[in-house]
Amino acid sequence: MSDAPSAAARRPRVLSGIQPTADSFHFGNYLGAIRQWVGLQETHEPFFFIADLHAITMGQPDPAVLRERSRRCVAQLVAAGIDPSRSAIFLQSQVPAHAELAWVLQCLTGFGEARRMTQFKDKSAKDGEGSASVGLFTYPVLMAADILLYRPEFVPVGEDQRQHLELTRDLAGRFNHRYKKTFRLPEPYILRQTAKILDLQEPTAKMSKSASSPGGIIEMLDDPRVSAKKIRSAVTDSGSDVRYDEEHKPGISNLLTIFSALTDRSVDDLVKAYDGRGYGDLKRELADAVVGFVTPFRDRTLALLDDRAGLDAILGEGREKAVAVAERTLADVYDRVGFVPAGR
Ligand code: TRP
Repeated sequence: MSDAPSAAARRPRVLSGIQPTADSFHFGNYLGAIRQWVGLQETHEPFFFIADLHAITMGQPDPAVLRERSRRCVAQLVAAGIDPSRSAIFLQSQVPAHAELAWVLQCLTGFGEARRMTQFKDKSAKDGEGSASVGLFTYPVLMAADILLYRPEFVPVGEDQRQHLELTRDLAGRFNHRYKKTFRLPEPYILRQTAKILDLQEPTAKMSKSASSPGGIIEMLDDPRVSAKKIRSAVTDSGSDVRYDEEHKPGISNLLTIFSALTDRSVDDLVKAYDGRGYGDLKRELADAVVGFVTPFRDRTLALLDDRAGLDAILGEGREKAVAVAERTLADVYDRVGFVPAGR
C-alpha cells in the first residue's frame, strides 16, 4: 500500500522480454532469470513483455502453438510472482510502436554493423547461409526499439544479449546526436551472479531448450513426478562424497546449485547436511524439494490458463501502461525525423 503513484514514478524503470518459443519455462531460465525479475518489482518500475514478434524470426511456428505459448508465458510470469499491479506485462505484438520504431532504427543501422552480430551469425549458420530471414537479420534492431521506447535505466538480460545491448546504446546515441536527445542510453544488467543451471545429463553444458536432451532439462509445467525422476537419474560423478567441486564433480555441484536455489539454503549448508551420506540421499531429497517447488507453480499456471478472461484483463492492463509510454516516445521520434503529424 506504500505505492503512491509518485513513489512509483521515482523508481528506476526496468524492461525485459522473453520469447514465447517453448511450452514451458525450465529451471535454467526460471532460476537464472525470471526469479530476478520478481525481485526487481520491489525497487523498480518494471515493463516485462512477451517478444512474440521475435518468435517468428527463425521460421514460423504453427499459429495455434504460438498463441498458446504466448499465453503460457504470461500465466507463468504471474505464477512466478510478477504482479500485474506492479509490473506492466504485455505482448510485443499488441503495441505497434515496437515495429514502428524498429523501422526508423533500421534506417540508422549499417548493414555491416548488423552483420557483425554474433547471435545472427550463429543462428543463420544453423539455417544455412542465405536461408535466414531478413527478420532474423534485423532482430537486434527490433530489440533496440523494444528497449528505447520505454527509456529504461536497466535491462536485465543474459550474457548472450550483451552485444545487442551495445547496439542499442550505439543506435540511441546516433539518433540523439543526429537529431536531438530523445533516448536514454540503457545499462545492461547482466544476470551473471545468479545460479547457473546446467544440463542434468551433461553438467558441463547450460540447461537450455535448444541444446539439452529431455532428460537433461526440468520443465516447470511438466508432471512433477517426471521432474523428480529426472533428478534421481541425473548424471553424477565418481566417488561418493557430496561436495561442491565444479571441475571434478560437475554433476553433484549442479544438483547442489539447484537445491540451494530452490530452498534458499546455502551450498555450504547443504554440503554439511549431506556429509557422510551418499548421492542417493541428496538426489531423493532434492527430488522432493523439486516436487514441492514446481507443484504450486504448475497449479497456479494451469488455473490462470483456464481463466482466459482473467488473462486477457492482465494483458489489457499491461498493454495500456505500455502504450502510454511507447506512444509518447514514438511521437517524439516521428516529429524529430520529420514525419508530418496526422491531422485530427
Ligand atoms: N532477445 C531476447 C532473448 O532472446 C528477448 C528480447 C527481445 C529482449 N526484446 C528484448 C530482452 C528487449 C530484453 C529487452 O532473450
